[in-house]
Amino acid sequence: MSDNKPSELKNDRFLRALLRQPVDRTPVWMMRQAGRYLPEYRASRAEAGSFMDLCRNTELACEVTLQPLERYPLDAAILFSDILTIPDAMGLGLYFAEGEGPKFHKPLRSAADIEALEVVNSERDLDYVMNAVSTIRRELNGRVPLIGFSGSPWTLATYMIEGGSSKDFARCKEMLYNRPELMHQLLTVLADSVTDYLNTQIRAGAQAVQIFDTWGGALSHSAYREFSLQYMQRILSGLIKEADGRRVPAILFTKGGGQWLEAMADTGADALGLDWTTDIGSARARVGDRVALQGNLDPSVLYASPKRIREEVEAILKSFGQGNGHIFNLGHGITPKVDPAHAGAMIEAVVELSAKYHA
Ligand code: CP3
Repeated sequence: MSDNKPSELKNDRFLRALLRQPVDRTPVWMMRQAGRYLPEYRASRAEAGSFMDLCRNTELACEVTLQPLERYPLDAAILFSDILTIPDAMGLGLYFAEGEGPKFHKPLRSAADIEALEVVNSERDLDYVMNAVSTIRRELNGRVPLIGFSGSPWTLATYMIEGGSSKDFARCKEMLYNRPELMHQLLTVLADSVTDYLNTQIRAGAQAVQIFDTWGGALSHSAYREFSLQYMQRILSGLIKEADGRRVPAILFTKGGGQWLEAMADTGADALGLDWTTDIGSARARVGDRVALQGNLDPSVLYASPKRIREEVEAILKSFGQGNGHIFNLGHGITPKVDPAHAGAMIEAVVELSAKYHA
């Protein structure tokens, strides 16, 4: 790029690939790239106190966002925050119990609890997230684009109703089947909150956004459309489409959503995230003329040797094949026990092996 405006991107292959434009090699980033597998993250986390203290500390949130970029030649940064900031701002009281994952002091336990919820005003109630976005964007200084994100309404609803992580989503499913109108009321408030949240992130400097529908795959074929996809579609149709004269691409990631890719592509998302259970070549044949595809190495491959990691990376690049519209990623977040050198081996393999697919 020619001039020196601070916002000018020096590396835009991630944004270009999301729009299926030509690139010199396949861009790569990792879901949860800032996290506990990095010793420098654990040090910043200890300095901050709790996980939420880290999210609320602008300087440290910026620091941990940049840590993986110091180690690896990644093509995107992702805001350091969490999907559960929205329910927290709605008054549910998010906390992380050691070894137990996220929990709420006040989970939704009655129809009255749901009826009392109001759409979140992100600029007012999630200002710490927006401060992190604008600070990270400034510190990136155009090195790579910044991804903003949110949970899907359905995924947020599961945590709000269950009070934390769940195996069978018993309370949610009971509500979905017995009181669908109440579930729809909750999902509507969440969809409008997510739309405002993502648009406020875009105004603060996010250059692409991803919706994490981590638990969409727990729904039945018809319930997925009615209770998850419909609301993600509502969000996508309300998103700001352009900032700084560039399209702000939106990525839709439903874990376990491989069988619904056609319907997901119909939402108008620019790209779909794939988990590792779907063959990326088949996915491309089904929807690749409409959306870009992001994924999809099994995160557990990173437990194997660097040689095996390289082979698995090559297999995915080969399966996607020649041409544009692929962003390399894991099929879900990187796990805490991964050796950072193994993450490095994956990224290096993408950098070295992918150029031939763009010749
Ligand atoms: O990708 C990134 O590096 C950006 C940061 C990010 C975090 N969470 C940081 C985090 C992102 C994008 C998320 C999304 C998120 N959070 C999702 C959707 C993505 C997915 O993984 O499916 C979900 C379901 C959550 C909710 C959540 N937050 C859980 C279940 C947990 C506990 C995870 C665990 O392994 O214990 C968190 C906490 C969390 N969010 C951590 C990080 C780095 C670990 C907290 C710590 O430092 O103790």
